[in-house]
Amino acid sequence: MKKKLALIAVAAAALCATSMPVFAGDDLITIGFAQVGHESDWRTASTQSAQAVFSAENGYDLQFVDCDNDSAAQLEAVRGFIEQDVDYIIIDPIVATGWDTVLTECEDAGIPVIVIDRTIDDSDKYVSWVGSNFLTEGIACGEWLKAYAEAKGIEEINALVIEGTNGSSAQIGRTDGFNQVAEENGWNILDSQDGDFTQNGGQEVMESYCKSYEGQFNVVICQNDNEAFGAMDAMKAAGVSYGPNGDVVLVSFDGNRPAMESLLAGDLTAVFECNPLAAPDVEKVIQQLEAGETPEKEIYMVEGWFANEDVVSSITIDGEEQPVTQMTQEVLDARAY
Ligand code: AHR
Repeated sequence: MKKKLALIAVAAAALCATSMPVFAGDDLITIGFAQVGHESDWRTASTQSAQAVFSAENGYDLQFVDCDNDSAAQLEAVRGFIEQDVDYIIIDPIVATGWDTVLTECEDAGIPVIVIDRTIDDSDKYVSWVGSNFLTEGIACGEWLKAYAEAKGIEEINALVIEGTNGSSAQIGRTDGFNQVAEENGWNILDSQDGDFTQNGGQEVMESYCKSYEGQFNVVICQNDNEAFGAMDAMKAAGVSYGPNGDVVLVSFDGNRPAMESLLAGDLTAVFECNPLAAPDVEKVIQQLEAGETPEKEIYMVEGWFANEDVVSSITIDGEEQPVTQMTQEVLDARAY
């Protein structure tokens, strides 16, 4: 990388000496980004954040590949970036395992890898990871539900869970975190199925739940906003009401604008945020590498917990008291996405 920049500088100086134009694109930093796909509002926000930060105006040439939730296509995309000899590779891993071989290939090619959002659990051959603590998100959901049920006098929890893409660290962390609190409190998890983080997936799973568990459930946990929208459609069609005065407490993860609007309207009861705007932190990592510095291995996004009603003001996770913010128009207006 440094050698490449030095050669470019020499070439640019030579061009200036002969008063020929220097093309701005010559010294752009090339980044290959193997994105999960386009399955959700969260994903759209993540892609837009990367495209805004890694623009040509900011000095980057972003090679973006939408892997359409296909792990084989994602490995192929990374190998394509190695062939192109990009300066950096960003990976948002669809699933958490199966990465060591291709990361070794990146290492052998001398291309630094930055992992964002979801984690890679079977290799540490990357410079930094920037993302969310999915286990904490799942625990937060459970702790909020516990406090909410107590405050509302809900004596029994009969929950249905619509999971995200199975094998992704987002699904694993949220499931483990929620199940941990559920077990501690003896809740009944009637079923927990994969909705693939999509609206269609959420709707299909919820349609089948409404038939199989008619009249038996009072909580639906959707592991992302889009699944929750699908679940709403299915519940409406089945005559199941949700929201503060409904039959069902409906909860989601992510907190993109459409979901926060639903929360304000009272369709969703609580939302556990997953912040998609990692790109500015990734850029800091790249700038540190450019400066010869060593970035931190793990960088956590800042996120919060939100509810429709002012019933639970805080929850405690690992001994730390964390606020639960009531969604209002003012809170919504102040949000960045
Ligand atoms: O990895 C983050 C998850 O992936 C988000 O919760 C979901 O919306 C997305 O598809």
